[in-house]
Amino acid sequence: MHSLPEMGARPIVGFLACIIFIQLGIYYRTSFHIPGIGGSDSSDSSNEAFMSGGSFGDPVRNRHPTVPLSLKELDILDKLSDTIVQVEALRVFGKDIPHNIHGATIKGQTRERAQQIRDQIQCWTQNGSWVRIDGHALTKPPGIPHLGDSRFSRCDGRFMESLDQEAQAHEGEEGHVHYLGELDAKNDRWVVREATKYKWVPNETICGQLPLSKVRAAPSTVYEPFEAAKFCRVLRQRNLMIVGDVTQYQLHDVLLSAVQKPFVCHGELGCLHRSPHELCATSNLKFSRNDVISVPWAIDPEKEEFPSASTVEQPWATDELLQEYNIVLLNKGLVWRPDEEFLNELVFTIKYLWRYYPKTMFIYRATHPVSNNCTALKEAGEDEAMAGKDGRSTVPGTMLQTPLDQSPERTKDNEDPKMVFRPTLADIQRQNKMAKHIVEAAGGIFLDTEKMFALRPDGRMGDGDCSRFCAPGPLDAYTDLLYNTLKILEA
Ligand SMILES: *[C@@H]1O[C@H](CO)[C@@H](O)[C@H](O)[C@H]1NC(C)=O
Ligand SMILES: *[C@@H]1O[C@H](CO)[C@@H](O)[C@H](O)[C@H]1NC(C)=O
Ligand SMILES: *[C@@H]1O[C@H](CO)[C@@H](O)[C@H](O)[C@H]1NC(C)=O
Repeated sequence: MHSLPEMGARPIVGFLACIIFIQLGIYYRTSFHIPGIGGSDSSDSSNEAFMSGGSFGDPVRNRHPTVPLSLKELDILDKLSDTIVQVEALRVFGKDIPHNIHGATIKGQTRERAQQIRDQIQCWTQNGSWVRIDGHALTKPPGIPHLGDSRFSRCDGRFMESLDQEAQAHEGEEGHVHYLGELDAKNDRWVVREATKYKWVPNETICGQLPLSKVRAAPSTVYEPFEAAKFCRVLRQRNLMIVGDVTQYQLHDVLLSAVQKPFVCHGELGCLHRSPHELCATSNLKFSRNDVISVPWAIDPEKEEFPSASTVEQPWATDELLQEYNIVLLNKGLVWRPDEEFLNELVFTIKYLWRYYPKTMFIYRATHPVSNNCTALKEAGEDEAMAGKDGRSTVPGTMLQTPLDQSPERTKDNEDPKMVFRPTLADIQRQNKMAKHIVEAAGGIFLDTEKMFALRPDGRMGDGDCSRFCAPGPLDAYTDLLYNTLKILEA
C-alpha cells in the first residue's frame, strides 16, 4: 500500500513525521491567528450557512492564515500532509488494510478485490462528464421533481417568474405560453431550467475496461440509472443515516424525492430527534447535522471547545443510532479547519466506527468546492435562460450557462489574508485527499466527487449562497452514484 521502508526504518519515519506535525501545529498556532475577523468580505463566495449562526468571527475556529502560500508551497504542503496521513493511518489502523470493506457482502474479499472495487467507483467519478439530454430523447422532464425543503426551489421560482413575464408579453399569441415541466415540441426542449438538463455520465470506454469488469459479470460494474426498486434491493433492509453539513441535508432531500416518499420532518436541525423517513418498505432514512463529523465526546468542555456558533455538531454517533443505522453517509462541511485539527477529528470519528461498529458501512463523500462566480451567473440570467436550437438562449436578456469542461485551477493564496475565504480550493483538495486515505485505510468507501461538482458553477442557489445547489439540480447525480456504489458492494 505504501512506499514506506520496512521495519526498523519505520519508527524513524514516524518520529520524523511527528516532528513535522508538531512543527506544523506550532506554525499554525503562531502565524495563523487573526483575532476577530468580522464577516466575509469576499462577497461572492460567502455562504449563508456560515452566517446563519450569527458569528463568523470566532477567533479560535475560524482563524485565518496570515501567511499567503504560493502554488509551489501549497504543493509542498500537499506532499507533507500525504506523508503525515500515511503514517497516521498505519499507526491507527495497522497495515493489514484495506483488506475488507466494512458492511459489504463480497464473497472472498481480498485486498486486491477491495482495491478493484475502489478503483471502479473512483473511475465513475473521475472519468465522466456532464452530458446534456433534452427534448424527445426523454419521456419525462429531466431532473428529479423536488419534494423537499422549499428553500431549494429558489431557482425554479426565478424561472417560473420569467415564464409568466414571457406569457404576458406575448398575450394572445400562439406557442408562447409555456408551463414548468412541459415539452416545447417546436423547439424540442423541456421547459425546465438548463441546469437540470445535465446528467453525469461515466466514460464506459475507460471504466468498462478496468480489472473488476473482467472478473465480475457485466451488470454489477456497468453504471446504471437509479431506480427506486433497484435501490431498495441493494439497501438490503438496512437503514441509512446521512450526517453532515447543509449540502448533505440536501442529499437527504434528493434521495427522498427520488423514491417519492413523504417527508416526515423538515429543517436540517429538526430531523435527528423525530421519527425517521421511510425510504423503502424495509429501510429508513435519517439526517443529522454535524458540520465536522465529530462524535459526541470529541468535544472537551474544559477547553471551551464547545460547538461554536459557526458549526453545528449534533450527536449522531450514539450507540442507539448506530445499532439501527448500518449505512452511514458522511461528509465534512465547508467550514475551515486547520489540517491538524481536521485530521484529529477525522481519525477519532473513523476509528470509533471502525473499532466499535465493524459491520457498519461508512461512505464518505468529498467536500464540494464553492463556485467563485455563481452570483455573476445568476445576474446574467442563468435560471431564466432557455436554449434554442442554435444553442443560444431564446429568452431576451439572459445568458446560458453550462458545466465546465475543465475544473478550476487552484490559485495562490491572496496577499490580503482578510480577503482569503477559507477553506480555499487548495484547502478543500488537500483535506479531501487526507479524508480519502483515512477512510479507505479504515475499510470505508470514499466518493471522490470534488471534481464532478467543481465543474458545476451553474445550478447553485445564488443570493450569496454559492455552496449549495438548487433542486432539482446537479446533486441529483448522487442518486445514481449511491445506487451503483451500493450495488458494486454486493455479491
Ligand atoms: C481517470 O481520470 C483520471 C484523471 O482525471 C486519471 O488519472 C485516471 O488514470 C483515469 N482512469 C481511471 C481508470 O480511473
Ligand atoms: C472516453 O474515453 C475515450 C478513451 O480515452 C475517449 O476516446 C473518448 O472520447 C471518451 N468519451 C467521452 C464521451 O468523453
Ligand atoms: C466563472 O468561473 C469559471 C471558472 O472559474 C469560468 O470558466 C467562467 O468563465 C466564469 N464565468 C463568468 C461569467 O465569469
